[in-house]
Amino acid sequence: MNSEADGMGQSLFPGADGATNPIGDDDPVLREMAQLRQVYLNQSKRRERELAEVKSMVNRESRRTTQLERDLNTLKTSLQAAEARADTMAAQADQLAAHLRRIYSAVFRGGVFGLILKACMELTGATKGIYLWQPPGPERRFKIKDAVGFQKYPGAAPSPFIQHLVTQVFESDDTFLAVDRKAFKGFPAPADDEERFANCIVAPVVIQDKLHGVIIVADKQRGTFTQEDCRTMLSIGSHASVALHNLKLQTELRQTHVTTIAALADAVELKDTYTHGHCQQVARFARQVAAELGLNDADQERIYYAALLHDVGKIGVPDMVLLKAGPLLPEELTMARAHVRLGYDLITQIPWLSDIANLVLYHHERWDGGGYPEGVAGEDIPLGSRIVGAVDTYCTMTTNRPYQKSRSKDDALAEMRRVSGSQLDPRVVEALIRVVNMPETELDESEAEFMSVYGVDEDKPLIGKL
Ligand SMILES: [Fe+2]
Ligand SMILES: [Fe+2]
Repeated sequence: MNSEADGMGQSLFPGADGATNPIGDDDPVLREMAQLRQVYLNQSKRRERELAEVKSMVNRESRRTTQLERDLNTLKTSLQAAEARADTMAAQADQLAAHLRRIYSAVFRGGVFGLILKACMELTGATKGIYLWQPPGPERRFKIKDAVGFQKYPGAAPSPFIQHLVTQVFESDDTFLAVDRKAFKGFPAPADDEERFANCIVAPVVIQDKLHGVIIVADKQRGTFTQEDCRTMLSIGSHASVALHNLKLQTELRQTHVTTIAALADAVELKDTYTHGHCQQVARFARQVAAELGLNDADQERIYYAALLHDVGKIGVPDMVLLKAGPLLPEELTMARAHVRLGYDLITQIPWLSDIANLVLYHHERWDGGGYPEGVAGEDIPLGSRIVGAVDTYCTMTTNRPYQKSRSKDDALAEMRRVSGSQLDPRVVEALIRVVNMPETELDESEAEFMSVYGVDEDKPLIGKL
């Protein structure tokens, strides 16, 4: 069988090998096959192109996915860091809130400035701190009100090194940040190792637009102080200002009370001209004796008011008894002694004064129980009454009266010592002797400091206004 004749040996797709169609173009089958082949070739190329495009797209997407994964990881890391920072800030905010709660409540109990110092130390990680207060007067000098981490402070006066640090704040009118010891170059030498700070922040304390003092925090627990720490201290300061603004409002209310008290005290003084200024003098010394005995600001204030009002009951004592020169008859003595009960009754009528009424009632009791109105003895007599009683005795001895000439200070103190342990509480007498022997400037300063705790303008002492 001839293979040429039956078509065997020819390619099924003519032209695929590039040879001329041996059969010819006029064969319809072959022509159709050639067309089909061409269609197939075209489709293959298109598919290849499409495949290449898809592959390239897949590659692109794959690269994009990798990039997205990387971005996602970066975001996750940032988010974790942000969460950790938010946790730290939340913890700090909680700490700050706790400190501020204590500061707000301290406003009404005293000791607010010590708490501000402790808040600054805890939130900046400082291990030492000093709160310096500027007493009124033309001189630029500072007194240490509170200190943490020092043996000699707050008792001692600030060393030249500490004073120099404070001056930095005054001269620059800004916070002073020392990140290491190099910042102290040219300063006076620290007084001792406790003052040899590795780092510190010195910040001004401004209350109601007035410089109140300066806070130093030093020796950060880990690392050194940063601008962030400075901002933290300023934040405490601004919150504390709000608390102190409340204090100012409270002080204004208290001043209204004081005005009322002054009016009552004046009424007594006008009646008994010999006692002019007596109530104020007793109040001033009694408050200082209370401070000397370590009583807190609130107790000092109660005793101050009780002393101011101790003789207010004399309003109800007849003039013939009150102004009589010479010894009183028994019935006159009874009338004179009634002033403690009259004062008590008067003061209990005024709700905000009721807790000092008892102090007024017992100011003529004696340590040995021989006083009036009830004859109570020793520590059964309220401490405030013992203080007012002792100061009243001293002030009466040193003032001219219708029935007696005033004694000298030394004579009066000798008499106080004589009656200490019988008429008067010995501990109170000792404190009073220390107080009356204080230089006037020290008394004035202590008074200004006490008033400043309550936000009173130091330029116009409260006592001076009465
Ligand atoms: Fe009295
Ligand atoms: Fe008196």
